[in-house]
Amino acid sequence: MQRDKFYVTTPIYYVNDRPHIGHAYTTILADVLARYHRLLKVPTFFLTGTDEHGQKVQQAADKGGITPQEHADRTVVRFQELWEKLEITHDDFIRTTEPRHKTVVQKLFQNLYDKGEIYRAEYDGWYCVPCERFFMEKDLVNGACPDCGRPVDRIKESNYFLRMSKYQEWLVQYIQDHPKFIQPDYRRNETLGFLRKPLNDLCVSRPKSRLSWGIELPFDKDFVAYVWCDALTNYISAVGYLSDEAKFARWWPASYHLIGKDILTTHTVYWPIMLKAMGVELPETVFAHGWWLLGDSKMSKTDGNVVNPMEFADKYGVEAFRYFLMAEMVLGQDASFTEEAFIRRYNADLANDLGNLLSRLVKMIGTYAGGTLPAPGELGEEEKLLRKTALEAAVTMETTLDGMRLDLGLAAVISVVRETNRYLERRQPWTLAKQEDKQPLYTVLYCAAEALRIVSGLLFPVMPGKMAELRKALGITDETLDLDSLKEWGGLKPGTQLGAMQSLFPRIMPIEAKPGAIPESGAAKVEVTPMGVVLVDYADFQKIQLRTARILEVEKIQGADKLLRLQIDLGGERRQIVAGIALHYEPSALVGKVVVVVANLKPAKIRGIESNGMLLAASVGKELRVITVEGDLPTGAVVK
Ligand code: MSP
Repeated sequence: MQRDKFYVTTPIYYVNDRPHIGHAYTTILADVLARYHRLLKVPTFFLTGTDEHGQKVQQAADKGGITPQEHADRTVVRFQELWEKLEITHDDFIRTTEPRHKTVVQKLFQNLYDKGEIYRAEYDGWYCVPCERFFMEKDLVNGACPDCGRPVDRIKESNYFLRMSKYQEWLVQYIQDHPKFIQPDYRRNETLGFLRKPLNDLCVSRPKSRLSWGIELPFDKDFVAYVWCDALTNYISAVGYLSDEAKFARWWPASYHLIGKDILTTHTVYWPIMLKAMGVELPETVFAHGWWLLGDSKMSKTDGNVVNPMEFADKYGVEAFRYFLMAEMVLGQDASFTEEAFIRRYNADLANDLGNLLSRLVKMIGTYAGGTLPAPGELGEEEKLLRKTALEAAVTMETTLDGMRLDLGLAAVISVVRETNRYLERRQPWTLAKQEDKQPLYTVLYCAAEALRIVSGLLFPVMPGKMAELRKALGITDETLDLDSLKEWGGLKPGTQLGAMQSLFPRIMPIEAKPGAIPESGAAKVEVTPMGVVLVDYADFQKIQLRTARILEVEKIQGADKLLRLQIDLGGERRQIVAGIALHYEPSALVGKVVVVVANLKPAKIRGIESNGMLLAASVGKELRVITVEGDLPTGAVVK
């Protein structure tokens, strides 16, 4: 989609604690989107910041024996330092304790009060401090917070309320009429589900007698603003609402509010109703991403199982960390973070494929062309195919960016890298170098370098520093990179002197899989009928998850003549499977086939290579055929 501007936001983070991987993820995602839009030459504004008021922050400050402002001043630095480390290019960082924000919140409350949208009443209900949200008795689940399951406090007091209920019907209609407003689709359904129950009016104040750490209400000095109303307002106060009309008109409505799935209700019910009551347009899209889990479990500070992004980036490099987070998570779904998975992907995509391609290519150009990029001759079929793959990846990247499927866009770019490595294997420059006629050799060297130029541009928003190094090694000094230049072949100028060779991504020694990672044998309970057929219970059969997948890439495994290494797309998730079918299929004959896999098989290592699932095949005697699916069902479909 061609946009005339791009305004992207992250949630503003609570300053009650140090930043963790969840914060790092959303901020890197926003940064990558912002950088892509800048490459598309779309005017871009990227906002992040900190949420500094409320009971949580007050409690954290009390614990440390300092004032909430002192506490916020100390903690905010941790976020700012982390963003610097992670190469975040935000245009603004807003703190809710800044006067520019507080003034807007106060004006806005006054306006709503004057319009009769806010009224005073007695409140009797329950409050969850970690979520900073009120609940009615009927909302509680087993007497606890319906969102996080933690204990709630009983609260009875006089307060101010925003008339939410009168907008309920309007909001349902708006959400239905604007499918892009809440993404992904299943999150829209979640909000619509929530809106099936009658909406309570929202308690938008806190009496100072209970909580003084907040923005004072302009019409009643005994109260402060509810922290969520204060926080959500950052998205407009930072771009000039009620303070700089021209700036506000320039950037609002936001293109994307990126959020975690746990703060969906505040962003898709409270926020749109607040905006409607103020008469302000709604943001284009609220996009809720999933959670990073540590292995299979939720990260929890109390259990000590959190990933510290600062330490991780120090250990393995900032840009590899950025790449892993972007490539590994299917946007919207939960993803698992493990050091093993990081190392596996790093070694496969970055060290073996990308880094290796660069170093062998620069070396070959050094050896066979004196370090100067040679001019290509006429392109043959192989070259045309490589050109097509590279140019298509540039288009895929743009489309997947629009559809928020960065993982797929990055997979397409890495497959160009693999294709270029294979191209070199097939064309064998080391053999061509022995020929009298050097033109075929020069064509191969040029084409491989050109494919790498396109790759480096496409990966630039994710790994800006490393890709700049790569481009320097290719002799690219012109830094006016834009996405359009990646949609055309032939950007590299023959005759350019190449830079020094870089070891961009040195291999990391893999952590050996723990013994528990070996798959256990199949069904638990079996019985044998008189005819010798093994019967399993239906419940046991149901445990096996069969799903369709498309084969993306296939490679032979050196030293294992029966095995093939397959990369598959399982409903958007990229996986590697090792299958014992090499005697029956040529790798190229399998690419593109839609097959059936056991999707929930425990990962295993076969000949030291990770296999994540099993492909189904039928065999009789020496014959074997993989099970394929006809037609155009989306991949990941359940086989029943
Ligand atoms: N201050 C509010 C947001 C106000 S926005 C107007 C808040 N702050 S937070 O610091 O608690 O959380 C910020 C974000 O981090 C949320 O979007 C949350 O979903 C995200 N994450 C927290 N843990 C996470 C993971 N383990 N994985 C991914 N994101 C997670 O809520």
